[in-house]
Amino acid sequence: MRYALISDIHANLPALDAVLAHIQRDAFDAVYHLGDLVGYAPWPNEVVDRIRSTGIPGVAGNYDSTVATDYKHCGCRYEDAQQELLSHLSYEWTRANVSASTKAWLGTLPFRIDVRPLGGHVSGPTLTLIHGNQTLNTVYVTEDRSDDFLATMGAALGARDGDIVAVGHTHKPWHRVVSGIQFVNTGSVGRPKDGDPRAGYVSLEVGTAGVAVQIVRVEYDVDAAASAIIDSTLPNDFAEYLQTGGRVVSTRSA
Ligand SMILES: [Fe+2]
Repeated sequence: MRYALISDIHANLPALDAVLAHIQRDAFDAVYHLGDLVGYAPWPNEVVDRIRSTGIPGVAGNYDSTVATDYKHCGCRYEDAQQELLSHLSYEWTRANVSASTKAWLGTLPFRIDVRPLGGHVSGPTLTLIHGNQTLNTVYVTEDRSDDFLATMGAALGARDGDIVAVGHTHKPWHRVVSGIQFVNTGSVGRPKDGDPRAGYVSLEVGTAGVAVQIVRVEYDVDAAASAIIDSTLPNDFAEYLQTGGRVVSTRSA
């Protein structure tokens, strides 16, 4: 089975459409999203409509679950007062601009999804999709986490040797194997933070012979997305952020 895993689209419709076109050319068996469909860019309703109309299942990111419930804060992290201000502006803009339908649908997203790629009634391997970690969709599972951290997380999720745990939220893709469990961070479609402005997703192949993970990057019209942000009432900082792949404002807000 070949899966395309997409995450952290963050209301960036041009990036999503470029990734979906790329995925379509490559004949995947299934596509899943790992949350954070909205926030930071001006197409929250359009992105949700695209995900709904293409029938892509997925889990709730912190942005999705907080917008859906009018929570007091998006659960985003920031490192200084300026980033805190920008984070709040994005959250309030998104809450003010999502339709009732978008908001209600975001509230239906599950916290985690478990997939059995090889089917049948045997016990593995299992692909588990979550946004953050096993208990919170706001925990940053970064590449520099210790082996102990990942092993504990895998055990808490019920993952075993040969299973795959896929996460998003950090906007930086990576792949590690700890205790025989494949940990994959799918990066970000619409707001990468690794200095590469191209949209990102992960290609995952699971067969009887094992697991293959490929981190994929896709060119899209970043300047068009940046222009739309500037033309909107969102902060212009978010346009520069897209154009530099997160280099200018080293925020960890997500
Ligand atoms: Fe995010």
